[in-house]
Amino acid sequence: MDRFRLDVHASEQDIVGNIAEDVRKGLTSAQKYLLPKYFYDELGSQLFEQITEQPEYYPTRTERSLLSSSARELMERVHPREMVELGSGSSYKTRVLLDAASQNGGLPRYVPFDVSPSIIESSAAALLNEYPTLDIHGVVGDFERHLPEVPPAGGRRLVLFLGSTIGNLRLDERRSLLQQIKLLLDTGDRLLLGVDLVKDVATLEAAYNDEAGVTAEFNLNVLRVINKALGADFRLEEFRHNAHYNHDEARIEMHLMPRSHQTVSIKDLDLTIEFTPEETIHTENSHKFTRETTGSLLEEAGLCLDHWYTDPDNMFGLALAAARP
Ligand code: SAH
Ligand code: TRP
Repeated sequence: MDRFRLDVHASEQDIVGNIAEDVRKGLTSAQKYLLPKYFYDELGSQLFEQITEQPEYYPTRTERSLLSSSARELMERVHPREMVELGSGSSYKTRVLLDAASQNGGLPRYVPFDVSPSIIESSAAALLNEYPTLDIHGVVGDFERHLPEVPPAGGRRLVLFLGSTIGNLRLDERRSLLQQIKLLLDTGDRLLLGVDLVKDVATLEAAYNDEAGVTAEFNLNVLRVINKALGADFRLEEFRHNAHYNHDEARIEMHLMPRSHQTVSIKDLDLTIEFTPEETIHTENSHKFTRETTGSLLEEAGLCLDHWYTDPDNMFGLALAAARP
């Protein structure tokens, strides 16, 4: 029997949604902005993997070790028959849970869901090899639009949304995504949501300003994506990465700042944009949470916090949540 299946709900050109309309809207707004999902072309996904390996970038290793220490207890609590992972990426941390499930007789099915087809293909190939009894049903899509396409549950389900990817969304988007996730949960099913926690500014800012400059490269790569997708002529060397903590909003903000006055033309949009050095492009946010703000976010979406896991230094949180009946 074939152990791998891949459903594609977003084509490579129209990566997700409508890059043309989203870029037009974002770059003609008073505060120019772009959407996080456009960062993950093949190079973007590779750069992201490198970010997670930087010494300053604590979230990945902290969440992974938190998963390691909680996995057994978690599996006994939930007893999943399948895991659906949103924004699964390399599935690096998922292995910790797959290993814990192996001790409970193994997990029959894994459903990775990501915008990047190449990352699903490569991570699935590795997992099929490492877990010989696992079936994988990958879904390429936009989790803000295609969650109804998640294949019907094959038994008790654990939905994973790790890496504080939820923190890259705006409040209205976080709410509506969680409402959609709720629809994936039947009685007994759970969501495991990874959130990066509010902490001292120096630690937060260092994580997004690594010495090696990988986060800067990742941020700049979005301009390369736009050049390629829409025939734009952004000169990457004329922009610089800026990441700082915004206290009032409890978030790291990432911007691209023009080094000098720039005129950029976007051929496919028939659009020319002027940039003055004070005018940044707000490229991404990374919101930081507390146990309380995570609890309220879940509540607002009709979910309830069932269990809260955190590391001894309170760096990262894992919220286990269920649908309120
Ligand atoms: N879960 C992994 C990867 C996090 S990076 C980890 O914790 O390390 C965010 C991932 O979400 C990337 O793999 C990216 O391709 C994916 N992603 C971003 N926006 C998305 C969207 N709108 N729909 C589906 N996947 C998305
Ligand atoms: N969600 C993670 C975070 O906010 C990973 C991430 C998404 C990220 N976009 C990023 C990390 C841009 C650095 C730069 O930390």
